Amino acid sequence: MRAAVYRSYGPPDVVRIEEVPTPVPGGQEIVVRVHAATLDVTDATARCGSPGYSRLFFGLRRPKWTVLGSDFAGVVEAVGSAVTRVRVGDEVVGVTGPDFGAHAEYVRIHQDGALAPKPANLDFAEAVALADATALAFLRDRARLRPGESLLVNGASGAVGSAAVQLGRHFGARVTGVCSTAHLELVRELGAEEVLDYTTVDFTRSGRRYDVVFDVAGTSSFGRSRRVLTPTGRYLSPVPSPGLLVQMPWTTAFGRRRAIVAFTGLRKAAEKTRDLLFTRELAQAGTLRPVIAARYPLERITEAHQHLDRGKYGNIVVTMTGAGTDTTRAG
Ligand SMILES: NC(=O)c1ccc[n+]([C@@H]2O[C@H](COP(=O)([O-])OP(=O)(O)OC[C@H]3O[C@@H](n4cnc5c(N)ncnc54)[C@H](OP(=O)(O)O)[C@@H]3O)[C@@H](O)[C@H]2O)c1
Repeated sequence: MRAAVYRSYGPPDVVRIEEVPTPVPGGQEIVVRVHAATLDVTDATARCGSPGYSRLFFGLRRPKWTVLGSDFAGVVEAVGSAVTRVRVGDEVVGVTGPDFGAHAEYVRIHQDGALAPKPANLDFAEAVALADATALAFLRDRARLRPGESLLVNGASGAVGSAAVQLGRHFGARVTGVCSTAHLELVRELGAEEVLDYTTVDFTRSGRRYDVVFDVAGTSSFGRSRRVLTPTGRYLSPVPSPGLLVQMPWTTAFGRRRAIVAFTGLRKAAEKTRDLLFTRELAQAGTLRPVIAARYPLERITEAHQHLDRGKYGNIVVTMTGAGTDTTRAG
């Protein structure tokens, strides 16, 4: 099969298309023919091996896992003799373990892995663009967002932020989105009651108060966001910093306003499966729609990485069917 392989850390052109052995399922394994996979910020970190401490996880001298990509959508191609969960031909969405592997024509996962049926109303690219449950894990599980609360999403046009705006609305919150001028309309369409342009407004100086500030872009801090948090407000960050790692236990023990950091990729496969099923319901109900910045066929993986390095909004999707680049957004 063809796969996007990298064997050393570096710029986008370290990733090349190679022929590698097609995976064969063991007794409890499932092989999925991948139709679409996302290319995200974690893939960029793993490709660059930067920041340096990330190599403790990805491999000290060279990458431990040579095919990137975590979220995938495709069709079950083969199953092991002990697999009862899916059948050949099922359309599925899944997330690999920390060992990546989805930027390939086929991916193999254990039958206890993170896997769910694909939402019937979405194509494979749209379905995979909703597979990441970071926003759900932060808002529902960590912030315990409640109906009537006010939520500010900083980085509302990104992959995580666009889901956060829609989920915030779904949970009954009043949502304010922060993004650049180019994406104000998009964020409004996603359901934000108010949209702030970060090129002209500093949300921490707005004088408003929010129950939850979700700093997806990681451009603010707990210290600066404190002044716009309600007395029991929560500051959420998916972008860890040494300061936040100290503030989190400190504010949990002593503060009324809390700083919260989490690493959603490290959650158990069963939790990820539960979230894929939850997301599927919302997608099928029309509550949650994917935001796709661009689609690249696998053979143009280097261009996809270049796009990621330039900065993106929404999701970059790699397709295995040669569908071509599409710079329109879905929805
Ligand atoms: N901890 C975890 O478990 C976890 C899981 C997933 C992701 N993450 C992290 O979450 C972060 C966001 O990921 P993503 O995939 O959503 O990124 P993304 O799609 O690249 O989106 C980032 C967004 O940030 C916005 N932005 C840029 N500069 C800004 C500024 N100064 N103020 C406010 N917004 C700004 C951009 O908006 P415009 O396009 O409008 O400029 C863009 O849409 C990444 O750092 C990623 O590593 C962490």
